[in-house]
Amino acid sequence: MVRAAVLAALGRPLEIRDDVEVEDPRTGEVQVRIVASGVCHSDLSARDGVMLMPTPAVLGHEGAGVVEKVGDGVTAVQPGDPVLVSWVPQCGTCYLCERRQGHLCETATITLASGGLLDGTTRLRSGGAPLHQMAASGTFSELAVVPETGLVKLPADLDLKLASLLGCSVLTGVGAVLNTARVAEGDTVAVVGCGGVGLNVIQGARIAGAARIIAVDTNPAKLDLAASFGATHAVDASSTDAVAGVMKLTEQRGADVAFEVVGAQRTIDQAITMTRRGGHAVLVGVPAMDVTVSVPAFFGVVLAGKTISGCWYGSSNIRQDVPRLLRLYRAGRLDLEGLVSRTIDLSEVNEALEALGTGDLARSVIVHRPPAA
Ligand code: APR
Ligand code: ZN
Ligand code: ZN
Repeated sequence: MVRAAVLAALGRPLEIRDDVEVEDPRTGEVQVRIVASGVCHSDLSARDGVMLMPTPAVLGHEGAGVVEKVGDGVTAVQPGDPVLVSWVPQCGTCYLCERRQGHLCETATITLASGGLLDGTTRLRSGGAPLHQMAASGTFSELAVVPETGLVKLPADLDLKLASLLGCSVLTGVGAVLNTARVAEGDTVAVVGCGGVGLNVIQGARIAGAARIIAVDTNPAKLDLAASFGATHAVDASSTDAVAGVMKLTEQRGADVAFEVVGAQRTIDQAITMTRRGGHAVLVGVPAMDVTVSVPAFFGVVLAGKTISGCWYGSSNIRQDVPRLLRLYRAGRLDLEGLVSRTIDLSEVNEALEALGTGDLARSVIVHRPPAA
């Protein structure tokens, strides 16, 4: 039995339970001792029912750990391997994986909808009832069973606390820039929302060689943090209109590329509006199900010649992108240390969820207890 944070019902604080039973991995599955897990806004959205989440469930989808057991047929990893958990398993052979769109892998569709693994069922139980696993992961548990196709082997010398952040915020944020938008050297980029994911969009834009990186946030403390990740300009959206602020900084033209990293109606419309004619608006944040895109089709899109892209998981192909991110990290071009604002125990997860979006917090990272000897 292991300890995990359980969402018993939508909107409720997570319960820290010590009675979670973990079934052995089945064919193609792997049992992973989760060492660390970041706390992401999507966990909060899942808790509150903003994102689809059957309950009871173990949340957490930004994790890294060490392989404990492998099921039949597993060849990519073996016990003792350090691994990153991807919240989109990528089979490598389906129609979309073959078209280099592993982030949309067809085998992963069922995992999000069902709160289970590739067959829709889960390997965790508590109090006699099955526990769903968020996004084929569930990293707020000391042990998780996940599909082999959702794991990427990590180098042995990498700090797994830092590595865990690759699993969501870094792959998503940096991927939005390098994969979805393909920001070019010299571009002017605007980033609306500078939380854990937005800061990675900002550092992605710095890596891509953007000339101007305009951070937009309603929390002024995040704008200071944004500057330390490479933002060159800031718009405090608590006191200035976000669109007017970006227009003023871009000779009234708008940004070449604008990223929405909040997931709200207003900021989605703002990001599209602050994109220049012929530019690219990239929607990264996960909105509630009733949010619509509501810019005028003619003046806002057609006449403006704008591209609007959805960005799911940074359009990442994990087996190429994780090694690329690690090369950038080792070259000193990707900041992982700066993303870790607080290291916490699993018992503090509810405070970490409430703290999202506040203060100068980038990420809270849970480090699980070491296994009993
Ligand atoms: N305008 C600008 N910034 C805003 C606004 C607004 N109207 N409302 C909120 N923000 C800022 C917050 O101040 C915070 O800095 O958006 C940021 C959100 O950061 P986090 O809560 O840390 O969220 P994060 O984990 O980065 O996720 C952002 O991406 O993966 C998705 O589901 C996730 O939709 C969420 C988004
Ligand atoms: Zn996330
Ligand atoms: Zn696939």
